[in-house]
Amino acid sequence: MKKYAGLLFLVIYLCSCGSDPLNYDWSIYKGGADANNYAPLDQINRNNVKDLQVAWEFYPGDEPENFRIWKYECNPITVDTVMYMVSAWRWLYAVNAVTGDKIWSFDPLQGERGGGVLRGVTYWQGHGKERIFVSAGNNIFSVDAKTGLPDDHFGTSGKVNLNIDEGGDRDTRVRVSTPGIIYKDLIIVGAAVSESTGAAPGHVRAYDTQTGSLMWTFHTIPWPGEEGYDSWPPEAFKYGGGTNNWAGMSLDEDRGLVFIPIGSPTYDYYGVDRIGANLFGNSVVALEASSGKLVWYYQTVHHDIWDYDLPTAPNLITIKKDGEKIDAIAQPSKQGFIYILDRETGNPIFPIEEKPVPKSRTPGEESWPTQPFPTLPRPFLRQSMSTNDLANFSPETYAANAEILKNLWHEGIYTPPDTAGTLLIPASRGGAEWGGGAYDPATGVLYINSNDSPEIGRMEKVKKNQEQKNETLFAAGERFYQTYCANCHGADRKGIEANPSLVDIDKRLKRSEILDKLKTGSAIMPSFASFISGKEDEIIAFLSNSGKDVRVASDLGKQDTSTTFLNVTAHGYFLDSLGRPAIRPPWGTLSAIDLNTGDFLWQLPLGNDIQLQKPGEPSTGTENYGGPIVTSGGLVFIASTLDRKFRAFDKNDGELLWEYELPGNGLATPSTYMLDGRQYISIAVSIGENLSHERCAIVTFSLPDN
Ligand code: HEC
Repeated sequence: MKKYAGLLFLVIYLCSCGSDPLNYDWSIYKGGADANNYAPLDQINRNNVKDLQVAWEFYPGDEPENFRIWKYECNPITVDTVMYMVSAWRWLYAVNAVTGDKIWSFDPLQGERGGGVLRGVTYWQGHGKERIFVSAGNNIFSVDAKTGLPDDHFGTSGKVNLNIDEGGDRDTRVRVSTPGIIYKDLIIVGAAVSESTGAAPGHVRAYDTQTGSLMWTFHTIPWPGEEGYDSWPPEAFKYGGGTNNWAGMSLDEDRGLVFIPIGSPTYDYYGVDRIGANLFGNSVVALEASSGKLVWYYQTVHHDIWDYDLPTAPNLITIKKDGEKIDAIAQPSKQGFIYILDRETGNPIFPIEEKPVPKSRTPGEESWPTQPFPTLPRPFLRQSMSTNDLANFSPETYAANAEILKNLWHEGIYTPPDTAGTLLIPASRGGAEWGGGAYDPATGVLYINSNDSPEIGRMEKVKKNQEQKNETLFAAGERFYQTYCANCHGADRKGIEANPSLVDIDKRLKRSEILDKLKTGSAIMPSFASFISGKEDEIIAFLSNSGKDVRVASDLGKQDTSTTFLNVTAHGYFLDSLGRPAIRPPWGTLSAIDLNTGDFLWQLPLGNDIQLQKPGEPSTGTENYGGPIVTSGGLVFIASTLDRKFRAFDKNDGELLWEYELPGNGLATPSTYMLDGRQYISIAVSIGENLSHERCAIVTFSLPDN
């Protein structure tokens, strides 16, 4: 059936009878290699979307009881009658796409958790085989799509280790957070790595789908003789890290081109060991998919010191300009710019101006004097903030925030992080994030959700091994924690995004288990083996809230004055004393942008915080993660918000046509598919508090029988 489904669809589509195909697969993450989050399905449409009801719910139920750490971000795929997905605990599942009944499950790490977030899986078919590729830990697994059993011909016993070992004494650990993409018999994957100094480099690699052999590597930090090598210090290719593709990629099958959005080099906020423009950091790179050969690149931030990773795959679009059709890509960014580039040359379709930006005041830092500013479309978020933009919940908090704001350095976007404190708007959370945009090929409109979430970046001078006399174990542990751990796990230990909460960690893990994790590292957490020796008691005391009356015994008075900079508060939201956003709403938006002209069709607050909404004012919008999809039924579907709602908007004017209260937040991108003449729409749900979850589920909707 599947083979002909595409053809059947094409025939029906061409005769444009307005009716849907009987079957339509969402067989690739984000609905297609074009990353467009689009489906030509209109059974569910403006008139009947209000009638949607739950067709089935699937609770993997594999997570241990005390698991309450992650966002669940999966965008499930469907092939024929089967849906493939990962749970938040990182098992792989095949379920019946009509009933939600489990067909099989695959536990890649035999009970161990696979590390961090995974947004989906990759399907490949060829040579009489059908495979699902799923990543867990530092490995990628090939699993038979029919049976759920590992493919023993792939790598070693069905798995390939992705770690990048280029010799030398450096971190090699890599994992995958966004599924790889298929080109013929290759699976192309990026890498999620630590964002700290000493992280592994984030090379892009292609593996043979049958054998698991490494077929090509693209060095995101160029080696001697490779283009871009001169944009780094000469030895940086040996020690530079990050510069990785964690956000997925898109692919033009006909042209044989793969488009790769790349993140910041490490350390995110301090680049003294990487003076230069740092190609291919923060660049979108077009490679020949068969060979990994560089075709073109466009760098969106030179020498990034803001963590402005390109957060999502670019959409493959076609622009109508001056009566001409131009195939292009649209690359959304955390900064709120959309870079629209010719698909074959990488040349901007609308002018992009290189403008001067403020110079870093941090000793040793050589920030880049200019940055590129697209002229169209205008940014889809606020890129600066004055006292007029402060939220006014009460005169007291307003005054306090105004005082804080007054003391922060801010000369617009690209103001460097500073020891005195810099207002970062947008900041590390974006802007656009990994959900990316949904593109409607019929109209050329891009729908994109975004966060307005300013942060305070404060560079701190940290003295390594700076011992203090007469400290308690707890205080020494806390100092260690604030230096080495807080940038990921949060100053309050409650976790940040994909980095888990460590609150009550002593109730979940034994002392030895915690220390083992610190010695070996885990997923993107680097190894701290060389830092923790002799400090075990302090660290454990702090993590278990004990040792407040025990004095540090060892190393008293030892002096080491070597200094380094760490930006421990880089991920600090700018909040008032009651934990409310300091910026006035909206805190989250959904925009519709005509990419042919660069004009906005509409923009509205996305989500609502009922407690903070003021009487008579529009919804507040909320922080949001995961993206929209658009259908030929005239609808934009999006969950993503922190108010548990799943919504459908009229794509033409943004009118809210349907909203449904999910059992938790849908911090993911929906999928839609058609089976035996019925259209379904699915969303992954995180069930728990705030951004974390206790259980995960897939909830699937369809229209009732007539
Ligand atoms: C670069 C970010 C990063 C830094 C820095 C970091 N961690 Fe982690 N940590 C993580 C991530 C991500 C995980 C989850 C890994 C996984 O799923 O295997 C984790 C897991 C852990 C766990 C296990 C949590 C659990 O519930 O199983 C502990 C304990 C921990 N970290 C402690 C620390 C301590 C102590 C430090 C400082 C010495 C530290 N981490 C520094 C990112 C980081």
